[in-house]
Amino acid sequence: MTGGCGFIGSNFIRYILEHYKPTYVTNVDALTYAGNVANLDGVAGEFGERYEFFNADIANADQIDALMTEHQFFAVVNFAAESHVDRSINSPQNFIHTNVIGTSVLLENARRHGVQRFVQISTDEVYGSLGPEGKFTEQSPLEPSSPYSASKAGADLLALAYRTTFAQEVIVTRCSNNYGPYQFPEKLIPLMIIKAMRDEPLPVYGDGLNVRDWIHVEDHCAGVIAALFEGKPGMVYNFGGASEMPNLEVVKLILDRLGKSHSLISFVTDRLGHDRRYAIDSSFAQRELGWKPLHDFREGLEATIDWYLNNQRWWQPLLERTGRY
Ligand SMILES: NC(=O)c1ccc[n+]([C@@H]2O[C@H](COP(=O)([O-])OP(=O)(O)OC[C@H]3O[C@@H](n4cnc5c(N)ncnc54)[C@H](O)[C@@H]3O)[C@@H](O)[C@H]2O)c1
Repeated sequence: MTGGCGFIGSNFIRYILEHYKPTYVTNVDALTYAGNVANLDGVAGEFGERYEFFNADIANADQIDALMTEHQFFAVVNFAAESHVDRSINSPQNFIHTNVIGTSVLLENARRHGVQRFVQISTDEVYGSLGPEGKFTEQSPLEPSSPYSASKAGADLLALAYRTTFAQEVIVTRCSNNYGPYQFPEKLIPLMIIKAMRDEPLPVYGDGLNVRDWIHVEDHCAGVIAALFEGKPGMVYNFGGASEMPNLEVVKLILDRLGKSHSLISFVTDRLGHDRRYAIDSSFAQRELGWKPLHDFREGLEATIDWYLNNQRWWQPLLERTGRY
């Protein structure tokens, strides 16, 4: 799997090693600003021979070729990505490099080396924005709004084309917004928790009424594993948490949990091309994969806030190392 030093990838490695018995998991990660080896503290010790780290850029064809020559992988699960929408607005090239070229290098090498399955981890953002009604299904048109979501949509189409052209066993999963431990503190929930803990203003885009469908990262990991083993090649599976909420309400829940005043909220100029609402219809994945989200959003959010409160030793060095959040 790739991108295992990031937020979802590191949760996925723990999840698959704890709940399943893969012979081994090789984690390919370039350790960008979002990649943090501390996300996997204890994993090498606990799962020794079953876990291996390979520091490489997925777009480096020579390194990926060498790795796949050395191993006979059953599957590639591609989490590696540039993942932050704001950064894609400022510097789209990195997003094309990793999300499009990186995915194409993985697909091509997986095909040439006879890797059986390829799971491309994607996002509901490829569908664009919803009005007040309706939900995204797997049949919704791709209408990405940002360079991030456009690069993910490009990667999805490349992956699905490998199914049609080469009969590669490709599966695409599209998930809504994740929350949980080890999320880099530039994303909404950890950013707001840390700012609130430090009594700093909490910057909320526009009117704060943009709606996201929150899913606990463990529910996403369970969905990816179901898609990996039970998914039908060439299919797309949507995962959502059935927990729609406006950003402003999420921020207020965080402030309430931390006993801080709502006066810390500071409305700032809206993000360019900011999608108004996402909502996922995951009934196809539930029916076909026997998967469903198990976490209640309010309880999961409280546990996540507590995790950030209790793990300052994890996020403090990140803020110092990256110089921003
Ligand atoms: N976070 C969400 O809410 C969410 C929702 C739906 C889908 N996704 C998708 O899930 C995946 C993981 O997201 P995340 O939030 O964990 O991201 P993240 O930014 O926390 O982690 C990305 C990881 O990929 C690595 N990486 C980046 N470029 C690389 C490259 N060229 N080669 C190798 N490794 C590279 C980074 O070092 C990092 O460890 C992404 O594909 C993202 O599009 C995320």
